[in-house]
Amino acid sequence: MSTTERRVAVVTGAARGIGAATAVRLAADGRAVAVLDLDESACADTVERITKAGGTALAVGCDVADAAQVEAAVARVAEELGGPTILVNNAGVLRDNLLFKMTESDWDTVMNVHLKGAFLMSRATQKHMVDAGFGRIVSLSSSSALGNRGQANYSAVKAGLQGFTKTLAKELGKFGVTANAVAPGFIVTDMTAGTAARIGVGFDELQAASAAQIPVQRVGRPEDVANAIAFFTGDDAGFVSGQVLYVAGGPLD
Ligand code: NAI
Repeated sequence: MSTTERRVAVVTGAARGIGAATAVRLAADGRAVAVLDLDESACADTVERITKAGGTALAVGCDVADAAQVEAAVARVAEELGGPTILVNNAGVLRDNLLFKMTESDWDTVMNVHLKGAFLMSRATQKHMVDAGFGRIVSLSSSSALGNRGQANYSAVKAGLQGFTKTLAKELGKFGVTANAVAPGFIVTDMTAGTAARIGVGFDELQAASAAQIPVQRVGRPEDVANAIAFFTGDDAGFVSGQVLYVAGGPLD
């Protein structure tokens, strides 16, 4: 993959998990990376991993669901690193519950972080991409987009992000901007650890049970997802747009 340009990337939810692995990978590919998460100080570990390896990173505190904070964060990135032309909409939360127990707040929180957050971040960064005649937007969907018990809110946003992605691909293609979605299956992170705790199963046990159902017979690592995102954000991927790539160790039913 050609990654000769020192482009500026923003990765949301990059303090840990898939976002942290993606920030580290994009920095290794030569990008200057804005490591964005709710709390700026929580981004320190990811920034240190990047800078220790000789890369460039900036910690940015921002709630992606808050328009004013998003505008300010993107302006700061443009000022300190340069106009961002790569965006990874990764920030996410779970508020799982069966429909009859799901609260309005469970619904709104998940809508706001995943869908509104991706909208606000994409809108704020696209002007830099259009100005540059180059852009890459990757949004984290999920295998749950196909439907998953206890996740009416989450499956709706993850399916919604696929429609959002296809629309951005159509609107922004003529400006050199691609939009794609990566839809992981089971990845070992704090998010899946939280699911294990919520359902009262040991995390090792949940991983073993999940691996047994996956064709490649293992659960995913954050780096598995980061590899796919690195492809979509690469300079060579300019003719691949509006796609959804499931990164799940096999096909999904
Ligand atoms: P995680 O829970 O480990 O990390 C999510 C990060 O997002 C955290 O650092 C959190 O502080 C940040 N965040 C949450 N709300 C935010 C907000 N309003 N503004 C800014 N940052 C915010 O999650 P993980 O597992 O790394 O997931 C990353 C993405 O991948 C999420 O969108 C998730 O839905 C998606 N995904 C994860 C899968 C998995 O198995 N772990 C499977 C499929 C999709």
